[in-house]
Amino acid sequence: MKHILCLLLVSLVSLAGHGQPAVNLVPLPRSVSMKQGLFILPERPVIACDAALRPQADWLACRLMAAPRRNPVVKPGATKGHFTLIIDSLSVTEAEGYRLDVSPKGVRLSGHDAAGIFYGLQTFIQLLPPEIYQERATSDVAWQTPCLTVSDAPAHPYRGYMLDVARYFFSKDYIKRTIDHMAAYKLNKLQLHLIDDSGWRMEVAAYPRLTEVGAWAGEGITRLGGYYTEADLREIVSYAAVRGVEVIPEIEFPAHILSAVVAYPYLACRGEQHAVQTEQSISPEILCVGNDSALVFLKDVLDATLRIFPSRYINIGGDEAIYRRWEECPRCRQRMSREGIDKAPELQGWLTNRVNNYLRSKGRTVIGWEEVMLRGKVDQPLVSMVWHQPADSAVAKKNGMKAVLAPCYYTYLDFPETGRNDEVKAATWCPPISLSRCYSMPIEDTGDTSTVIGVQACMWSDQFIHGTLLQELRQLDENRSERYIEHFIFPRLLAVSELGWTPKAQRNYTGFTARLAHHYRRLLAMDRGFRVPLPEATEVRQNPDHSFSFRLHCPVEGAQICYTTNATEPHHHSATLQSGEWVSVGKPEMLKAIVVVTDTKWSLPVSGTDLLPK
Ligand code: ACM
Ligand code: ZN
Repeated sequence: MKHILCLLLVSLVSLAGHGQPAVNLVPLPRSVSMKQGLFILPERPVIACDAALRPQADWLACRLMAAPRRNPVVKPGATKGHFTLIIDSLSVTEAEGYRLDVSPKGVRLSGHDAAGIFYGLQTFIQLLPPEIYQERATSDVAWQTPCLTVSDAPAHPYRGYMLDVARYFFSKDYIKRTIDHMAAYKLNKLQLHLIDDSGWRMEVAAYPRLTEVGAWAGEGITRLGGYYTEADLREIVSYAAVRGVEVIPEIEFPAHILSAVVAYPYLACRGEQHAVQTEQSISPEILCVGNDSALVFLKDVLDATLRIFPSRYINIGGDEAIYRRWEECPRCRQRMSREGIDKAPELQGWLTNRVNNYLRSKGRTVIGWEEVMLRGKVDQPLVSMVWHQPADSAVAKKNGMKAVLAPCYYTYLDFPETGRNDEVKAATWCPPISLSRCYSMPIEDTGDTSTVIGVQACMWSDQFIHGTLLQELRQLDENRSERYIEHFIFPRLLAVSELGWTPKAQRNYTGFTARLAHHYRRLLAMDRGFRVPLPEATEVRQNPDHSFSFRLHCPVEGAQICYTTNATEPHHHSATLQSGEWVSVGKPEMLKAIVVVTDTKWSLPVSGTDLLPK
């Protein structure tokens, strides 16, 4: 045994049958049954669809016109085509579910609803070569798919992603890009964190200073910021709707609103003039709940929100309030005594109840960070966004309410994957979250009586306001900030997609990473940045002469492992290691290896020492 330290077998799980090309679907569907034959994309595909499915049919037509350069014809009302899209809620019984039948003759897609049809199309797109995501024409690609039947529906109705556009302003186009990559992986809720101490991002016509003043931080050339007009937001909402994504505005209060206080100082207890934050910290200035005008402001902002966003859910924030100002404020103390409240935090509960009741009267469902359930009794149902430990959903359960899991220990993607000091600079207030940790988040499937209705990844951008390091270099047309986001969300967003979609009994990390190997190629074709995973050891051996031999696995399809055996840093011109090939070194630390995806994109190095079995 001395000579064989370890034998690790990587099982490359694919859904291929004999003689069939592999399919690598993420998120993994409920059931896939492979059939004989291939579907070859015709030159002039006819897309027949129910009239109501025109937007989804048009979406497919656009994809087929891009890289494959086909000339599709959309026929609403027709029932026979190369593609036939129909709503059939009797045979496809679950919301957002679909059945996809691909045969040599064509593609028949039945959906429970329009969202189900869209997800069936996304699954079909994942059967085509990765180049399908490119806009430019591509030669040497066989535009064909294997034949199969997929029956599928999500394990959770809420599969979310939160983008913090308040700490850092992301363009409308970047939000659309975000919606595209969410939709590709069947995520269906985009929470826009529109308000924070460092920026107010939503135009509200009755309060122009919110965006004239509150949307901008810093002075001169370091001035940063921006906002979305009502028209921008409506455009985002309709773009998302076609793609099955509900845009959920987060109107944060009573804390994290310094940007509003800068615009209108009367909103805070002391009425003092402040500046929009340029450094990350939580401002103690909070909405003065004792001031009726501040409550009118809140109602006006909520009314504007309701006019712009047709979403079922409205997120009211509610996290991390510091109550010192309320304790000191004569008006807030008066409010407390009038309402029979003796502790300042319960004033937040009083406000939450008022807002919750108001939004419920407008037919909306309120979500708030988990604090909304911890500040006095909540008198009507709302949804808790659990952001500490998954087990904290017990509070919602105790109150008979629902919860979404967005725990900072699993799905806050602004934390790095490892604690190495050569990782890209990221948040540090929680431990690193590896891909496997993210995938391992405990979540049961949602049923009729479940508390937990889903999962959400959060991408906070407060790291961007620490100095100018990560700001966009407009002169060079370099969107560093967007690339930075993508480096952190990919590939972990795909793990969150599978947590949200795939039933627990089918989730398996080894199978996921085997399919993920192929999805890196898809991310490249989509022009999305990602953190390149490091080489892995499949076998490590100590030889009779005490040297070590390694066999390495490249976790990215189509990439190469480059290595050195003299402890120097490898780069993309270093020697390459073929799969199955052994490399031997006198001491483990002499081996250094990287995964090279392109001439400009490779992983951090791994050393032989890191690859020894733990
Ligand atoms: C949060 O991370 N403060 C919700
Ligand atoms: Zn006050």
